[in-house]
Amino acid sequence: LQQVAVMRPELHFSPKKNWINDPNGLFFDGEQYHLYFQHNPHGVGHGYMSWGHAVSTDLVNWTELPIAILHGDAADIFSGSIVVDQENTSGLGDGSTAPIIALYTAAAKDDSNQSQALAYSLDGGATFTKYAQNPVLDRGSKNFRDPKVFRYESSQGSCWVMVVVEAIERRVLIYRSENLIDWTEASSFGPQAATAGIWECPDLIQLPVAGSDQLKWVLLVSLNPGGVAGGSGTQYFVGEFDGFTFTPDKHQEANDSLAFEQLSQVSWLDWGRDFYAGVSFHGLPVNQQTIIAWMSNWDYARDLPHDGWRGSMSAARTLDLVQLGDGGFEIRQRLNGLPESPVPTSTVLTGETHIELSAPALVELSFAGGFTGQARLLLHRADHSVISEVTVEPSLIQHHRSAGKVAHELYASSQRMPLPEDSTELVIQVLLDHGSIEILGADGRRSLTDQLTGEAVPAYGVLQYSGSTSAVVGVLPLSEKSLER
Ligand code: FRU
Repeated sequence: LQQVAVMRPELHFSPKKNWINDPNGLFFDGEQYHLYFQHNPHGVGHGYMSWGHAVSTDLVNWTELPIAILHGDAADIFSGSIVVDQENTSGLGDGSTAPIIALYTAAAKDDSNQSQALAYSLDGGATFTKYAQNPVLDRGSKNFRDPKVFRYESSQGSCWVMVVVEAIERRVLIYRSENLIDWTEASSFGPQAATAGIWECPDLIQLPVAGSDQLKWVLLVSLNPGGVAGGSGTQYFVGEFDGFTFTPDKHQEANDSLAFEQLSQVSWLDWGRDFYAGVSFHGLPVNQQTIIAWMSNWDYARDLPHDGWRGSMSAARTLDLVQLGDGGFEIRQRLNGLPESPVPTSTVLTGETHIELSAPALVELSFAGGFTGQARLLLHRADHSVISEVTVEPSLIQHHRSAGKVAHELYASSQRMPLPEDSTELVIQVLLDHGSIEILGADGRRSLTDQLTGEAVPAYGVLQYSGSTSAVVGVLPLSEKSLER
Protein backbone atom coordinates (compact mmCIF):
# COMPACT_ATOMS: atom_id res chain seq x y z
CA LEU A 1 0.00 0.00 0.00
CA GLN A 2 1.03 3.52 -0.73
CA GLN A 3 3.06 5.50 1.69
CA VAL A 4 2.02 9.12 1.15
CA ALA A 5 2.42 12.39 3.01
CA VAL A 6 -0.36 12.21 5.59
CA MET A 7 -0.48 15.31 7.72
CA ARG A 8 -0.54 14.73 11.43
CA PRO A 9 -3.46 15.97 13.50
CA GLU A 10 -2.51 18.67 16.01
CA LEU A 11 -5.38 18.32 18.47
CA HIS A 12 -5.73 14.54 18.36
CA PHE A 13 -3.45 11.71 19.38
CA SER A 14 -1.65 9.85 16.59
CA PRO A 15 1.25 7.42 17.09
CA LYS A 16 4.82 8.28 16.14
CA LYS A 17 4.86 5.22 13.97
CA ASN A 18 2.91 2.05 13.13
CA TRP A 19 -0.68 0.97 13.57
CA ILE A 20 -3.18 1.87 16.30
CA ASN A 21 -6.84 1.05 16.96
CA ASP A 22 -9.01 1.13 20.12
CA PRO A 23 -8.23 3.34 23.12
CA ASN A 24 -7.51 1.10 26.15
CA GLY A 25 -7.07 1.59 29.88
CA LEU A 26 -8.01 5.28 29.94
CA PHE A 27 -7.43 6.69 33.43
CA PHE A 28 -6.77 9.96 35.21
CA ASP A 29 -4.17 9.79 37.98
CA GLY A 30 -4.98 13.18 39.50
CA GLU A 31 -2.45 15.00 37.34
CA GLN A 32 -2.22 13.27 34.00
CA TYR A 33 -4.61 11.56 31.64
CA HIS A 34 -3.31 8.18 30.48
CA LEU A 35 -4.23 6.84 27.09
CA TYR A 36 -3.21 3.29 26.23
CA PHE A 37 -4.12 1.96 22.83
CA GLN A 38 -4.15 -1.09 20.60
CA HIS A 39 -0.79 -0.89 18.87
CA ASN A 40 1.34 -2.94 16.53
CA PRO A 41 4.97 -2.23 17.47
CA HIS A 42 6.20 -3.78 14.24
CA GLY A 43 4.14 -2.36 11.40
CA VAL A 44 1.29 -0.31 9.94
CA GLY A 45 -1.17 -3.23 9.83
CA HIS A 46 -3.22 -4.84 12.63
CA GLY A 47 -1.02 -7.48 14.31
CA TYR A 48 1.28 -8.22 17.27
CA MET A 49 -1.27 -6.29 19.32
CA SER A 50 0.21 -4.59 22.36
CA TRP A 51 -0.72 -1.61 24.50
CA GLY A 52 0.96 1.64 23.49
CA HIS A 53 0.90 4.50 25.97
CA ALA A 54 0.58 8.30 25.91
CA VAL A 55 -0.06 10.96 28.56
CA SER A 56 -1.56 14.43 28.54
CA THR A 57 -2.49 17.13 31.04
CA ASP A 58 -5.16 18.73 28.82
CA LEU A 59 -6.54 15.88 26.63
CA VAL A 60 -5.30 17.77 23.57
CA ASN A 61 -1.49 17.64 23.60
CA TRP A 62 -0.22 14.06 24.02
CA THR A 63 3.24 12.71 24.77
CA GLU A 64 3.86 9.16 23.59
CA LEU A 65 5.73 6.89 26.01
CA PRO A 66 7.25 3.42 25.54
CA ILE A 67 4.96 0.41 25.00
CA ALA A 68 3.30 -0.51 28.29
CA ILE A 69 2.20 -4.11 27.68
CA LEU A 70 3.90 -6.12 24.96
CA HIS A 71 2.29 -9.02 23.09
CA GLY A 72 3.53 -12.53 23.88
CA ASP A 73 4.57 -15.37 21.58
CA ALA A 74 1.25 -17.18 21.86
CA ALA A 75 -1.19 -14.36 22.62
CA ASP A 76 -1.87 -10.77 21.62
CA ILE A 77 -2.93 -8.11 24.10
CA PHE A 78 -6.39 -7.03 22.96
CA SER A 79 -8.56 -4.23 24.37
CA GLY A 80 -9.27 -3.71 28.05
CA SER A 81 -9.28 -1.21 30.88
CA ILE A 82 -7.38 0.08 33.90
CA VAL A 83 -8.38 0.79 37.50
CA VAL A 84 -6.34 2.12 40.39
CA ASP A 85 -6.69 -0.39 43.23
CA GLN A 86 -6.67 2.18 46.06
CA GLU A 87 -7.33 -0.33 48.84
CA ASN A 88 -5.00 -2.97 47.42
CA THR A 89 -7.88 -5.44 47.17
CA SER A 90 -5.77 -7.45 44.71
CA GLY A 91 -2.88 -7.78 47.14
CA LEU A 92 -0.58 -6.87 44.26
CA GLY A 93 0.53 -3.57 45.82
CA ASP A 94 3.93 -3.17 47.46
CA GLY A 95 2.52 -1.64 50.64
CA SER A 96 3.30 1.96 49.72
CA THR A 97 1.66 2.69 46.34
CA ALA A 98 -1.74 1.58 45.10
CA PRO A 99 -1.27 -0.90 42.26
CA ILE A 100 -2.57 0.13 38.85
CA ILE A 101 -4.40 -2.85 37.44
CA ALA A 102 -4.95 -3.53 33.76
CA LEU A 103 -7.49 -6.12 32.68
CA TYR A 104 -7.16 -7.02 29.02
CA THR A 105 -8.03 -9.79 26.63
CA ALA A 106 -5.35 -12.35 25.99
CA ALA A 107 -6.19 -13.32 22.40
CA ALA A 108 -4.55 -16.57 21.31
CA LYS A 109 -2.69 -15.95 18.06
CA ASP A 110 -4.18 -19.15 16.58
CA ASP A 111 -7.72 -17.79 17.34
CA SER A 112 -8.47 -20.78 19.57
CA ASN A 113 -9.33 -18.77 22.72
CA GLN A 114 -9.93 -15.33 24.19
CA SER A 115 -9.73 -14.92 27.96
CA GLN A 116 -9.30 -12.03 30.39
CA ALA A 117 -5.87 -11.47 31.88
CA LEU A 118 -4.38 -9.10 34.44
CA ALA A 119 -1.22 -7.02 34.55
CA TYR A 120 -0.19 -4.59 37.27
CA SER A 121 1.97 -1.53 37.49
CA LEU A 122 3.76 -0.20 40.55
CA ASP A 123 5.38 2.73 38.74
CA GLY A 124 2.43 4.91 37.87
CA GLY A 125 1.38 3.04 34.73
CA ALA A 126 4.70 3.13 32.84
CA THR A 127 5.51 -0.57 33.00
CA PHE A 128 3.32 -3.59 33.76
CA THR A 129 3.99 -7.07 35.08
CA LYS A 130 1.75 -9.83 33.76
CA TYR A 131 0.07 -11.70 36.62
CA ALA A 132 1.67 -15.11 37.08
CA GLN A 133 -1.64 -17.02 37.28
CA ASN A 134 -3.21 -15.56 34.12
CA PRO A 135 -5.85 -15.84 32.79
CA VAL A 136 -8.17 -14.61 35.54
CA LEU A 137 -11.32 -15.32 33.53
CA ASP A 138 -11.67 -18.00 30.87
CA ARG A 139 -14.96 -19.38 29.47
CA GLY A 140 -13.32 -21.44 26.76
CA SER A 141 -14.72 -18.96 24.24
CA LYS A 142 -13.10 -17.75 21.04
CA ASN A 143 -14.82 -14.34 21.08
CA PHE A 144 -14.91 -13.26 24.73
CA ARG A 145 -13.24 -9.87 24.99
CA ASP A 146 -12.81 -6.20 25.88
CA PRO A 147 -13.20 -6.14 29.72
CA LYS A 148 -14.14 -2.71 31.12
CA VAL A 149 -13.85 -2.62 34.91
CA PHE A 150 -15.12 -0.07 37.42
CA ARG A 151 -15.72 0.26 41.15
CA TYR A 152 -19.38 -0.07 42.07
CA GLU A 153 -20.29 1.69 45.32
CA SER A 154 -23.57 1.20 47.18
CA SER A 155 -24.90 1.36 50.72
CA GLN A 156 -24.34 -2.43 50.90
CA GLY A 157 -20.64 -1.95 50.22
CA SER A 158 -18.52 -1.81 47.11
CA CYS A 159 -17.09 -4.28 44.65
CA TRP A 160 -15.45 -4.41 41.23
CA VAL A 161 -17.69 -4.85 38.21
CA MET A 162 -16.59 -5.94 34.74
CA VAL A 163 -18.58 -5.59 31.53
CA VAL A 164 -17.22 -7.75 28.72
CA VAL A 165 -18.68 -9.17 25.51
CA GLU A 166 -19.44 -12.49 23.96
CA ALA A 167 -18.99 -10.75 20.63
CA ILE A 168 -20.68 -13.17 18.24
CA GLU A 169 -23.65 -13.71 20.59
CA ARG A 170 -24.24 -9.92 20.80
CA ARG A 171 -24.21 -10.14 24.58
CA VAL A 172 -22.63 -8.03 27.30
CA LEU A 173 -21.73 -10.14 30.34
CA ILE A 174 -21.50 -8.59 33.78
CA TYR A 175 -19.08 -10.06 36.33
CA ARG A 176 -18.31 -9.09 39.94
CA SER A 177 -15.16 -9.41 42.00
CA GLU A 178 -13.78 -8.52 45.42
CA ASN A 179 -10.13 -8.60 44.35
CA LEU A 180 -9.94 -8.14 40.56
CA ILE A 181 -8.66 -11.73 40.30
CA ASP A 182 -11.65 -13.98 41.12
CA TRP A 183 -14.69 -13.13 39.00
CA THR A 184 -18.32 -14.34 39.32
CA GLU A 185 -20.88 -13.97 36.56
CA ALA A 186 -23.80 -11.79 37.68
CA SER A 187 -25.97 -11.34 34.57
CA SER A 188 -25.97 -10.71 30.87
CA PHE A 189 -27.57 -8.17 28.53
CA GLY A 190 -28.59 -8.52 24.89
CA PRO A 191 -29.01 -9.12 22.10
CA GLN A 192 -31.09 -5.94 21.77
CA ALA A 193 -31.45 -3.04 19.32
CA ALA A 194 -28.69 -3.00 16.64
CA THR A 195 -27.34 -6.52 16.14
CA ALA A 196 -26.26 -6.70 12.50
CA GLY A 197 -22.62 -6.82 13.59
CA ILE A 198 -20.71 -8.39 16.45
CA TRP A 199 -20.66 -6.53 19.77
CA GLU A 200 -17.34 -5.16 21.03
CA CYS A 201 -15.83 -2.78 23.61
CA PRO A 202 -18.71 -2.28 26.09
CA ASP A 203 -18.69 0.35 28.84
CA LEU A 204 -21.15 0.89 31.70
CA ILE A 205 -21.08 4.39 33.16
CA GLN A 206 -23.16 6.58 35.40
CA LEU A 207 -24.07 9.98 33.98
CA PRO A 208 -25.72 13.02 35.53
CA VAL A 209 -29.01 14.29 34.10
CA ALA A 210 -28.63 17.99 33.25
CA GLY A 211 -30.60 20.30 35.49
CA SER A 212 -31.36 17.68 38.17
CA ASP A 213 -29.65 15.63 40.89
CA GLN A 214 -30.54 12.44 39.08
CA LEU A 215 -27.96 9.92 37.87
CA LYS A 216 -28.68 7.26 35.27
CA TRP A 217 -26.68 4.28 34.04
CA VAL A 218 -25.67 4.09 30.39
CA LEU A 219 -24.35 1.02 28.57
CA LEU A 220 -22.22 1.75 25.51
CA VAL A 221 -21.92 -1.05 22.97
CA SER A 222 -19.76 -0.79 19.87
CA LEU A 223 -20.73 -3.02 16.97
CA ASN A 224 -19.10 -3.94 13.71
CA PRO A 225 -20.45 -3.88 11.08
CA GLY A 226 -24.03 -2.58 11.41
CA GLY A 227 -23.26 0.97 12.56
CA VAL A 228 -25.68 3.66 11.42
CA ALA A 229 -23.21 5.16 8.93
CA GLY A 230 -22.01 1.72 7.76
CA GLY A 231 -19.37 -0.52 9.27
CA SER A 232 -18.24 0.25 12.83
CA GLY A 233 -20.52 2.26 15.13
CA THR A 234 -21.53 2.68 18.77
CA GLN A 235 -25.03 2.41 20.21
CA TYR A 236 -26.08 3.09 23.77
CA PHE A 237 -28.77 2.06 26.23
CA VAL A 238 -30.01 4.20 29.15
CA GLY A 239 -31.32 2.41 32.23
CA GLU A 240 -30.64 1.24 35.77
CA PHE A 241 -27.92 -0.91 37.30
CA ASP A 242 -28.17 -2.51 40.75
CA GLY A 243 -24.66 -3.92 40.97
CA PHE A 244 -25.72 -7.15 39.27
CA THR A 245 -28.07 -6.44 36.39
CA PHE A 246 -28.41 -3.67 33.83
CA THR A 247 -32.06 -2.97 33.00
CA PRO A 248 -32.70 -0.62 30.08
CA ASP A 249 -35.56 1.88 30.47
CA LYS A 250 -37.04 0.55 27.25
CA HIS A 251 -36.63 -2.90 25.78
CA GLN A 252 -35.69 -2.92 22.09
CA GLU A 253 -36.05 -6.06 20.02
CA ALA A 254 -32.82 -7.23 18.41
CA ASN A 255 -32.74 -6.03 14.82
CA ASP A 256 -30.11 -7.04 12.32
CA SER A 257 -31.37 -4.80 9.53
CA LEU A 258 -28.85 -2.57 7.79
CA ALA A 259 -31.49 -0.15 6.47
CA PHE A 260 -31.03 3.44 7.61
CA GLU A 261 -34.74 3.72 8.48
CA GLN A 262 -34.35 0.88 11.01
CA LEU A 263 -30.91 1.84 12.26
CA SER A 264 -31.86 5.47 12.83
CA GLN A 265 -34.38 4.35 15.49
CA VAL A 266 -31.48 3.24 17.71
CA SER A 267 -29.57 5.59 20.08
CA TRP A 268 -26.17 6.24 18.49
CA LEU A 269 -23.24 7.87 20.19
CA ASP A 270 -22.09 9.16 16.81
CA TRP A 271 -23.56 9.24 13.30
CA GLY A 272 -20.30 9.38 11.33
CA ARG A 273 -18.04 6.74 9.82
CA ASP A 274 -15.15 7.09 12.26
CA PHE A 275 -15.98 6.91 15.94
CA TYR A 276 -15.46 3.42 17.32
CA ALA A 277 -14.65 1.54 20.52
CA GLY A 278 -15.10 4.70 22.62
CA VAL A 279 -14.75 4.15 26.36
CA SER A 280 -14.57 6.33 29.49
CA PHE A 281 -11.73 7.37 31.76
CA HIS A 282 -11.41 5.74 35.16
CA GLY A 283 -10.69 8.23 37.95
CA LEU A 284 -12.94 11.12 36.94
CA PRO A 285 -15.99 12.23 38.95
CA VAL A 286 -19.42 11.38 37.60
CA ASN A 287 -20.01 14.95 36.39
CA GLN A 288 -16.84 14.80 34.26
CA GLN A 289 -17.26 11.43 32.55
CA THR A 290 -15.11 11.65 29.44
CA ILE A 291 -14.62 9.34 26.48
CA ILE A 292 -12.19 8.97 23.61
CA ALA A 293 -12.82 6.76 20.57
CA TRP A 294 -10.70 5.35 17.76
CA MET A 295 -11.27 7.62 14.77
CA SER A 296 -11.57 4.94 12.12
CA ASN A 297 -13.76 2.16 10.77
CA TRP A 298 -12.95 -1.51 10.21
CA ASP A 299 -14.54 -1.15 6.73
CA TYR A 300 -11.31 0.43 5.46
CA ALA A 301 -8.94 1.07 8.42
CA ARG A 302 -6.39 -1.44 7.14
CA ASP A 303 -6.38 0.07 3.65
CA LEU A 304 -5.91 3.77 4.34
CA PRO A 305 -2.82 5.51 3.02
CA HIS A 306 -0.17 5.95 5.68
CA ASP A 307 3.07 7.74 6.35
CA GLY A 308 4.73 5.15 8.56
CA TRP A 309 1.95 5.65 11.14
CA ARG A 310 -1.73 4.83 10.79
CA GLY A 311 -4.69 5.84 12.94
CA SER A 312 -5.71 8.55 15.38
CA MET A 313 -8.04 9.08 18.31
CA SER A 314 -11.12 11.30 18.48
CA ALA A 315 -11.22 14.45 20.53
CA ALA A 316 -12.08 13.80 24.18
CA ARG A 317 -15.76 14.38 24.89
CA THR A 318 -17.41 14.90 28.26
CA LEU A 319 -20.86 13.35 28.56
CA ASP A 320 -24.08 13.97 30.42
CA LEU A 321 -27.75 13.25 29.75
CA VAL A 322 -30.72 15.39 28.89
CA GLN A 323 -34.23 14.32 29.72
CA LEU A 324 -36.65 14.49 26.80
CA GLY A 325 -40.32 15.46 26.74
CA ASP A 326 -41.38 11.80 26.49
CA GLY A 327 -39.42 10.87 29.62
CA GLY A 328 -36.53 9.30 27.72
CA PHE A 329 -32.88 10.38 27.92
CA GLU A 330 -30.24 11.33 25.41
CA ILE A 331 -26.47 11.60 25.72
CA ARG A 332 -25.02 15.06 25.26
CA GLN A 333 -21.36 15.54 24.32
CA ARG A 334 -19.05 18.47 24.87
CA LEU A 335 -15.55 18.80 23.45
CA ASN A 336 -13.11 18.66 26.33
CA GLY A 337 -9.89 20.66 26.57
CA LEU A 338 -10.95 23.19 23.93
CA PRO A 339 -12.33 26.69 24.40
CA GLU A 340 -16.12 26.75 24.85
CA SER A 341 -17.09 29.11 22.08
CA PRO A 342 -15.36 30.63 19.07
CA VAL A 343 -14.83 34.32 18.58
CA PRO A 344 -15.23 36.50 16.67
CA THR A 345 -18.56 35.90 14.98
CA SER A 346 -20.22 37.54 12.05
CA THR A 347 -23.75 37.46 10.73
CA VAL A 348 -24.24 35.55 7.52
CA LEU A 349 -26.44 36.91 4.80
CA THR A 350 -28.26 34.84 2.25
CA GLY A 351 -25.91 33.93 -0.57
CA GLU A 352 -22.26 32.92 -0.50
CA THR A 353 -19.79 33.90 2.18
CA HIS A 354 -16.06 33.22 1.91
CA ILE A 355 -14.54 32.10 5.23
CA GLU A 356 -10.90 32.25 6.25
CA LEU A 357 -10.34 28.75 7.51
CA SER A 358 -7.41 26.46 8.04
CA ALA A 359 -7.07 23.49 10.36
CA PRO A 360 -6.98 23.16 13.25
CA ALA A 361 -10.01 25.30 13.97
CA LEU A 362 -13.38 25.28 15.64
CA VAL A 363 -16.23 26.61 13.51
CA GLU A 364 -19.53 27.52 15.10
CA LEU A 365 -22.73 28.04 13.13
CA SER A 366 -25.91 29.22 14.81
CA PHE A 367 -29.36 29.61 13.41
CA ALA A 368 -32.14 31.47 15.17
CA GLY A 369 -35.33 29.59 16.06
CA GLY A 370 -37.73 28.87 13.23
CA PHE A 371 -34.93 28.54 10.67
CA THR A 372 -36.00 27.02 7.38
CA GLY A 373 -33.87 26.57 4.30
CA GLN A 374 -30.33 25.28 4.09
CA ALA A 375 -26.74 26.09 4.93
CA ARG A 376 -23.77 24.38 3.28
CA LEU A 377 -20.22 24.64 4.48
CA LEU A 378 -17.76 23.65 1.75
CA LEU A 379 -14.14 22.97 2.66
CA HIS A 380 -11.82 23.64 -0.25
CA ARG A 381 -8.30 22.68 -1.12
CA ALA A 382 -5.98 25.31 -2.59
CA ASP A 383 -6.79 23.95 -6.09
CA HIS A 384 -10.48 24.78 -5.33
CA SER A 385 -11.63 21.15 -5.24
CA VAL A 386 -13.89 20.27 -2.30
CA ILE A 387 -12.62 18.05 0.55
CA SER A 388 -15.78 17.95 2.56
CA GLU A 389 -19.27 19.36 2.57
CA VAL A 390 -21.51 19.88 5.61
CA THR A 391 -25.19 20.52 4.88
CA VAL A 392 -27.45 21.81 7.64
CA GLU A 393 -31.22 21.74 7.39
CA PRO A 394 -33.67 22.26 10.27
CA SER A 395 -34.09 18.53 10.83
CA LEU A 396 -30.95 17.00 9.31
CA ILE A 397 -27.20 17.42 9.10
CA GLN A 398 -25.33 15.65 6.33
CA HIS A 399 -21.65 15.26 5.74
CA HIS A 400 -20.13 14.29 2.44
CA ARG A 401 -16.43 13.60 2.09
CA SER A 402 -14.59 13.18 -1.16
CA ALA A 403 -12.27 10.24 -1.86
CA GLY A 404 -9.20 12.47 -1.78
CA LYS A 405 -6.12 10.27 -1.54
CA VAL A 406 -8.10 7.20 -0.50
CA ALA A 407 -8.76 4.60 -3.16
CA HIS A 408 -10.98 2.32 -1.01
CA GLU A 409 -14.47 2.01 -2.51
CA LEU A 410 -16.25 2.39 0.85
CA TYR A 411 -14.42 5.56 1.84
CA ALA A 412 -16.01 8.40 -0.19
CA SER A 413 -19.44 8.65 1.41
CA SER A 414 -22.35 10.73 2.68
CA GLN A 415 -23.47 10.48 6.29
CA ARG A 416 -26.91 11.54 7.56
CA MET A 417 -27.76 12.69 11.08
CA PRO A 418 -31.41 13.50 11.86
CA LEU A 419 -31.76 16.32 14.39
CA PRO A 420 -34.11 16.19 17.37
CA GLU A 421 -37.53 17.64 16.61
CA ASP A 422 -37.62 19.67 19.79
CA SER A 423 -34.41 21.65 19.18
CA THR A 424 -35.23 25.35 18.93
CA GLU A 425 -32.18 27.45 18.34
CA LEU A 426 -29.68 25.35 16.39
CA VAL A 427 -25.97 25.59 17.16
CA ILE A 428 -23.47 23.45 15.24
CA GLN A 429 -19.84 23.09 16.25
CA VAL A 430 -17.33 21.76 13.73
CA LEU A 431 -13.89 20.74 14.96
CA LEU A 432 -11.46 20.59 12.07
CA ASP A 433 -8.02 19.09 12.34
CA HIS A 434 -5.66 17.72 9.75
CA GLY A 435 -7.34 14.49 8.72
CA SER A 436 -10.67 14.79 10.53
CA ILE A 437 -13.96 16.59 11.05
CA GLU A 438 -16.15 16.28 14.17
CA ILE A 439 -19.59 17.85 13.99
CA LEU A 440 -21.59 18.42 17.17
CA GLY A 441 -25.16 19.67 16.82
CA ALA A 442 -28.29 20.35 18.84
CA ASP A 443 -26.50 21.20 22.07
CA GLY A 444 -24.20 18.19 21.76
CA ARG A 445 -27.10 15.74 21.43
CA ARG A 446 -25.88 14.76 17.98
CA SER A 447 -22.35 14.05 16.86
CA LEU A 448 -20.87 13.01 13.51
CA THR A 449 -17.19 12.12 13.19
CA ASP A 450 -15.45 11.47 9.88
CA GLN A 451 -11.81 11.11 8.98
CA LEU A 452 -10.57 13.23 6.12
CA THR A 453 -7.58 11.00 5.67
CA GLY A 454 -4.51 12.55 4.21
CA GLU A 455 -6.13 15.96 3.96
CA ALA A 456 -4.13 18.81 5.38
CA VAL A 457 -5.30 22.30 5.92
CA PRO A 458 -8.40 23.35 4.01
CA ALA A 459 -7.27 26.47 2.16
CA TYR A 460 -10.60 28.19 2.67
CA GLY A 461 -14.27 27.61 3.38
CA VAL A 462 -17.39 28.79 1.62
CA LEU A 463 -20.71 29.05 3.36
CA GLN A 464 -23.78 28.98 1.12
CA TYR A 465 -26.88 30.08 2.97
CA SER A 466 -30.48 30.26 1.89
CA GLY A 467 -32.15 30.37 5.28
CA SER A 468 -35.15 32.31 6.47
CA THR A 469 -33.72 33.62 9.74
CA SER A 470 -30.43 35.23 10.57
CA ALA A 471 -27.41 32.97 10.94
CA VAL A 472 -24.11 33.59 12.68
CA VAL A 473 -20.73 32.03 11.92
CA GLY A 474 -17.61 32.11 14.06
CA VAL A 475 -14.17 30.62 13.47
CA LEU A 476 -11.64 30.04 16.20
CA PRO A 477 -8.17 29.11 14.96
CA LEU A 478 -6.73 26.42 17.23
CA SER A 479 -3.06 26.22 16.36
CA GLU A 480 -0.94 24.85 19.17
CA LYS A 481 0.15 28.39 19.93
CA SER A 482 -3.40 29.60 20.49
CA LEU A 483 -3.91 26.75 22.95
CA GLU A 484 -0.86 27.47 25.08
CA ARG A 485 -1.79 28.17 28.62
C1 FRU B 1 -12.42 -3.48 18.39
C2 FRU B 1 -11.57 -4.72 18.53
C3 FRU B 1 -11.75 -5.34 19.91
C4 FRU B 1 -10.45 -6.08 20.11
C5 FRU B 1 -9.46 -5.19 19.42
C6 FRU B 1 -8.32 -5.92 18.78
O1 FRU B 1 -11.97 -2.60 17.40
O2 FRU B 1 -11.89 -5.66 17.52
O3 FRU B 1 -12.89 -6.14 20.04
O4 FRU B 1 -10.15 -6.28 21.45
O5 FRU B 1 -10.18 -4.45 18.45
O6 FRU B 1 -7.34 -5.03 18.31
